[in-house]
Formats: sequence, structure tokens, C-alpha cells
Amino acid sequence: MEKSKSPVSTGIHYYNYFSFNLFIVYIAQYKTIFMTLKQKTKHTSSPSKKPILQVLNGKSLNPPPFWLMRQAGRYLPEYRKVRSQVENFLNLCLTPKHAVEVTLQPIRRYNMDAAILFSDILMVPYALGQNVDFRKSEGPVLEKLSNISKFCDFNIETFHHSLGPVYETINLVKEELDNNTTLIGFCGAPWTVATYMIEGGSTRDFTRVMSFARSQPEAFHGLLSILIEASFHYLNKQITSGAEVIQIFDSWAGVLNEKEFRQWVIKPTKEIIQRLHVQHPHIPVIGFPRQAGPLYTDYIKETGVTAISLDQTASVAWVAKNIQPLCAVQGNLDPRVLVAGGEAMQESLQEILSTLGEAPFIFNLGHGILPTTPPEHVAELTACIRSWSQKT
Ligand code: CP3
Repeated sequence: MEKSKSPVSTGIHYYNYFSFNLFIVYIAQYKTIFMTLKQKTKHTSSPSKKPILQVLNGKSLNPPPFWLMRQAGRYLPEYRKVRSQVENFLNLCLTPKHAVEVTLQPIRRYNMDAAILFSDILMVPYALGQNVDFRKSEGPVLEKLSNISKFCDFNIETFHHSLGPVYETINLVKEELDNNTTLIGFCGAPWTVATYMIEGGSTRDFTRVMSFARSQPEAFHGLLSILIEASFHYLNKQITSGAEVIQIFDSWAGVLNEKEFRQWVIKPTKEIIQRLHVQHPHIPVIGFPRQAGPLYTDYIKETGVTAISLDQTASVAWVAKNIQPLCAVQGNLDPRVLVAGGEAMQESLQEILSTLGEAPFIFNLGHGILPTTPPEHVAELTACIRSWSQKT
């Protein structure tokens, strides 16, 4: 009978078996350590290197870094090409292959200092279970809400499951970016998202949401609480998937009076940021409470934002005096000036850079790029920013 070939049958075999096992254990440990380090560097890339992270850390750079709100979108022919392949805008946001591609398109063309995740603020109502549709020439259309109770017991697992493709997109985009480009994740602020949920789409007068907030204050606060909770979980997952900076879009902050602004803009934003900072103490957050006017200062002091994104109605001289001593500033070229191009654009650009460029500053627009923007104007803008140097 053949002798057993068991590794323990002779001393030498036993020794080989033992060292082979040790070797495997070493490899496994090395792999674990390597993977942990890779994960760590992936999520906390050195703040000293990427220009946008440096500015958000309080450094002034000359020339300042830049990116543009809605930098991926219909003004780019390559975006329109991808967009024509999917019927529905939601499917574009929920198909990582396409979402990664359109996120990277403006970076390839203009090499901005940040890529912003390609998605939409209305992904949160969608993941909470409200029907959201984007119709040509009509904009977003959301299912009519008879009451908000259907969101009250939202299930966090189902919520994350619906947004899984967004997290995957972040992961894939992060792999593609070089060492200088920051990845920005985002959400809409509770007030702005609530306006779409209650109005059922875009609005000019905000009468439905205002009547709802006034006639059913408890239900309205309930909705804001749900949105705080959902936004926190959404942003938290964006950060663990690779987002290095978060921007909170409060596009309709400017339609509120001071009391409402404190309750519906400052308070919910502060809560989201506080909760995020418990999990990720160093994650920079840029707030965009559009057209907040004199309330920009209280928003900065009370919410705990790292930086403020300003719309074009904020005068640069006022910003330099009143806002720059408080935090890093981002903004604020009028997107219509970018459509016009030429001398008007040069003049505005020079005014912004020379007034705001000496303190920590990120160049951006005062609101999203308009679909009618000629891509050559963006190229010209990019060249001017890159060649700008502060005269001493
Ligand atoms: O900045 C980027 O490049 C990232 C992508 C992004 C989109 N929407 C893509 C988009 C971001 C950050 C947003 C934010 C967003 N979405 C806001 C806050 C900023 C702002 O503009 O005030 C708001 C209010 C929305 C809601 C929304 N989404 C509206 C009102 C519309 C219709 C109007 C429009 O511009 O078409 C959208 C659709 C949308 N979101 C498009 C894009 C590229 C166009 C859809 C298409 O291509 O068919």
C-alpha cells in the first residue's frame, strides 16, 4: 500500500507545509495592510497636494483653482451625445458607465481642479420613493404628494440600494482622477429639495410650499427632518465611496425671510454638517445658500461650513470685506456673462480675481452653466484663470 503523502508524514514535509502556510499568512497580512493603506489614501488623500483641498484648508493660491457648477451638461456636444443614448435623465444618473463618462468630460476638455459627481439633487426624493421624471422643456416633474407620511418610516437599506449606482459612480470616477483633481460629492439642502417635493417641480412663486409650511407646520418640519436624515446618510456614503469635498446646494434659500431662513436653511444645514463631522471630522463642506444676501454671514458662522459658494449678486468688494475674513470663498461669475464672452467676461473675471484672489479662493460661477454657453468661452475663461497672477 502506498504510503500516505500527507505533509505530516516526514519531518521535511511537515517543515515545508508549515513554511508554506506561514508564507500564505504573510501574503494575506501584507495584502490586508496594503488594502487598508490603499483605502485610507483613497479616502483621505493628502490635503496638501490637491489645490482645492489646500484652499479649503485655508491656503491662498495664485492663480486660484477653479471648477464650474453644472460643468457637465448640455452645453457640451459630447454630453448631448451620451444623453441621446438614454431616454430618461434618471437612467443617465443611475448608469455608472454613463455617469462616470459625463463627470469626466469637462475635466478632459478643460482640466478643472475638481470633478463634481454627475447626479441630481432630486435623487434623494427618488430614493425616498417619490416618482421623479425629467421632461424635455418642462424640467423635473415629481409625483403629487397627498401627505408626507409615506416617507416617515423610510428604510435606510432600501434608500442606499436605490442610490447604489451613484456610490459606484463615485468609486469609479475616483479611480480615474489624477493627483491634482478633487472629487466633489453633493446633495440639495432640505429646504430646496422640499420645494421640489411639495411644488411637484420647478416654481416661480413657491406658493404651494409656503402654504404647506404655514398651514401644516408640524408636517413640514417632519419633512425637513426626514430630508436631514436622508441627506446625512447619502453624504456619509458618498464620502466613504471616495468624495473628498461635499457641496450643499440651497438654490432657493434666497426666497425666504430672515426667520424662515434661520429655521429652514441654517438649522437643517447645521444639523447635517454636525452629523457628518462626527463621522468625518475633516471633510470640507461648501455651502451654497443662493441669494442669501446679508444672511450669508450668519449662515457661515452658524452652520459650520468650511467655505461658501456665492452667487453673482454678492458684490466682490463686500465679499472681500465681510466674507473672506470668515472662511474660504467660491464664486461668483454670472453664468450669463460666460454666455456673452468677450470683453464683458474679461472685465468681470479680472474684477473677481483681483478683488478676491488674495485670500483662500476657488473660482466658480454664481450659478450653474447655462445650456447656451459656447464651449469656446469656457476654454477662454480657463486660459485666463490659469495665466492670471496676482500683481503685488
Ligand atoms: O454640476 C454638475 O455638473 C453635476 C450635475 C448636477 C446636475 N444637477 C445635473 C443636471 C448638479 C450638481 C445638479 C444640481 C441641481 N439639480 C440643482 C442645484 C443647483 C442649481 O442649479 O440650482 C437643482 C435645483 C437641480 C434640479 C434640476 N435638475 C432642475 C431644475 C433641472 C431641469 C432644469 C435643467 O437645467 O435642465 C434638472 C435637470 C438636470 N440636472 C440636467 C443636468 C445636466 C439637465 C437634464 C438633461 O440633460 O436632460
